[in-house]
Amino acid sequence: MSKILEVKNLVKKFVKANGDIHTAVNDISFYLEEGEIFSFLGPNGAGKSTTINMITTQLSITSGEILIDGESIVNNPIAARQKIGVVAQHNNLDRGLSAFENLVYHGKYFGMTQSAAESKAHELLRDFGLADWKDDYVKSFSGGMAQRLKIARAIMHEPKLLFLDEPTTGLDPAYRKILWQHVLRLNKENNTTVFLTTHYMEEPERFSDRIAVYNTGEIKAIGTLAELRKLVPSESIIYVTLDKIPLGLEFRLSKFQTIKNVVKKDEKTLTVYPHDSKKALNEILSYLDDSQLKLENIQLSHTTLDDIFIHLTTENKGA
Ligand SMILES: Nc1ncnc2c1ncn2[C@@H]1O[C@H](COP(=O)(O)OP(=O)(O)OP(=O)(O)O)[C@@H](O)[C@H]1O
Ligand SMILES: [Mg+2]
Repeated sequence: MSKILEVKNLVKKFVKANGDIHTAVNDISFYLEEGEIFSFLGPNGAGKSTTINMITTQLSITSGEILIDGESIVNNPIAARQKIGVVAQHNNLDRGLSAFENLVYHGKYFGMTQSAAESKAHELLRDFGLADWKDDYVKSFSGGMAQRLKIARAIMHEPKLLFLDEPTTGLDPAYRKILWQHVLRLNKENNTTVFLTTHYMEEPERFSDRIAVYNTGEIKAIGTLAELRKLVPSESIIYVTLDKIPLGLEFRLSKFQTIKNVVKKDEKTLTVYPHDSKKALNEILSYLDDSQLKLENIQLSHTTLDDIFIHLTTENKGA
């Protein structure tokens, strides 16, 4: 395996309207192995798109280094661009061109012949349900149609490194499936490396080799799902929802032998990290009964990526 992307000490600072400096990316370093599917997760405004935009040469860097296939993108942005495909978060289609023209021009820019570009464009327009709209201008497209065309355009030239910035936002479930069929095929057949950001946690859970959880400009954790699971206090979680959480309840429950830690998820729900989930469940139920507290819901579940994400990106982190 070789490193197809290396990001070293990357920083991006923006000047805000009031003149303050905002550090959107704060000295991050990571790499991608060729052929892996990597998910870069973080809350809104964390700096994910800023990171992608710098790597894909759409935004200048404040400092740091980005290497694609061992070559600096600053020294050779044109060579770097030839290796990548991007589904940007914003709509960057050419509104003055038809769907077909958007794809064919893009393919030719990336070195495809006219006939190869045309036949690939027909195939992708068909797969993404746009064949009947091939000659229509992009400005007449719905949000989901434009998103489908952006995806088709990014994979036209079968890039070595594919960046997907929230690609399934605005896509209905049938087209999400088609997107993933294409991405997984490219990954399997061409060893295409995929860099994904998404807020749909089931996507990295199902498809990623490694996941980075990123917040306020910094990488909080990076690894396989199994490795990230170890960073959460327990392998299962009990959510206890009451009509109202009385003062000090989390402290009292956290003293139980069967419980590792308790944190308040919101005004009505406690997140309980148990040592022994079944025993803890029984103890909680009998305690609530004895205390005559009104239980609305109690749920025991395996720790999901959602839980890991919340644990790593919220201030109140528990054990
Ligand atoms: N051109 C800009 N000028 C000033 N600030 C910017 C600019 N672009 C982004 N930012 C700021 O940088 C931060 C990171 O934005 P970014 O778009 O990278 O977040 P994100 O992680 O992609 O969020 P989302 O999940 O909402 O897409 C935000 O606070 C944003 O306001
Ligand atoms: Mg974004």
